[in-house]
Amino acid sequence: MTIRAVIIGAAGRMGQALTRVAAEFPDLRLVGAITAAGSPVLGRDLGQYAGIAPLGITLSADLAAALRNADVAIDFSRPEASAANLAACRTAGTALLIGTTGLRPLLSESELSEAARQIALLVAANTSLGVTLLMELVRQAASALPAEFDVEILETHHRMKRDAPSGTALALGQVAATARGTALDEIAADRAGPRRPGAIGFAVSRGGDVVGEHEVRFLGPGEQLVLAHRATDRAVFARGAITAALWLAQQPAGRYEMRDILF
Ligand SMILES: NC(=O)c1ccc[n+]([C@@H]2O[C@H](COP(=O)([O-])OP(=O)(O)OC[C@H]3O[C@@H](n4cnc5c(N)ncnc54)[C@H](OP(=O)(O)O)[C@@H]3O)[C@@H](O)[C@H]2O)c1
Repeated sequence: MTIRAVIIGAAGRMGQALTRVAAEFPDLRLVGAITAAGSPVLGRDLGQYAGIAPLGITLSADLAAALRNADVAIDFSRPEASAANLAACRTAGTALLIGTTGLRPLLSESELSEAARQIALLVAANTSLGVTLLMELVRQAASALPAEFDVEILETHHRMKRDAPSGTALALGQVAATARGTALDEIAADRAGPRRPGAIGFAVSRGGDVVGEHEVRFLGPGEQLVLAHRATDRAVFARGAITAALWLAQQPAGRYEMRDILF
């Protein structure tokens, strides 16, 4: 079965990574490539722009037109564009995978849930299969270890990253908080002052071309458990996103997570 996909944010780092790995997926057919209105790269061939052979797909800003022939949209663009992209997919009835991070407060949980009544929707701050498994390990550790174990989440990314802490770090914190029966907003640690019991802290590091590193430390009396993931190639996010998008395109309307693909 062939799944027709549109890449939103196609001219960006992730858009190009998606374009380059697309040929590894025989069931995938790219049918559209969307970038920002007014972009100087509008009209360029997607393949050539991503450094591979021409694909006959033109970088365009007309999402509604691209969705007419698509089964799924894969959005790695900007949070400012996400609400409009979601609305276009709802109108077209097209499944949507949102990989863009920093959505809050521009797109609320209730807006996402509302949309998931009409379309298959998957929002993933991290589409790597390794991080998807890390989330499960963090869930297990946070619920098994006593609450006196402090949780500290460290992340490092390239110097161009816009949001901080990363969407993945926040998602890891959310998983740990939920496993401890509370909300992240309630339990996130203040930067200064002594740590409240059970608080979850974040540390952010930026520089160079680091693709993405996350470490979750459970710090208890006399021992530490450290769970970590290091991405060395942006292609892992692209491959995970395409694997998820191919699956999502065949699901009924609803809200899905990366773990639905792995387990
Ligand atoms: N889920 C994951 O696993 C994962 C992994 C890596 C990155 N991300 C996230 O994915 C997003 C993109 O990352 P990136 O590194 O690829 O960033 P990037 O290189 O800045 O790419 C974003 C692209 O989106 C374009 N854009 C802006 N407005 C748009 C619109 N309305 N419609 C379509 N495209 C639009 C930008 O064009 P202009 O430059 O012309 O504005 C740019 O080409 C970020 O939020 C990042 O945190 C997620």
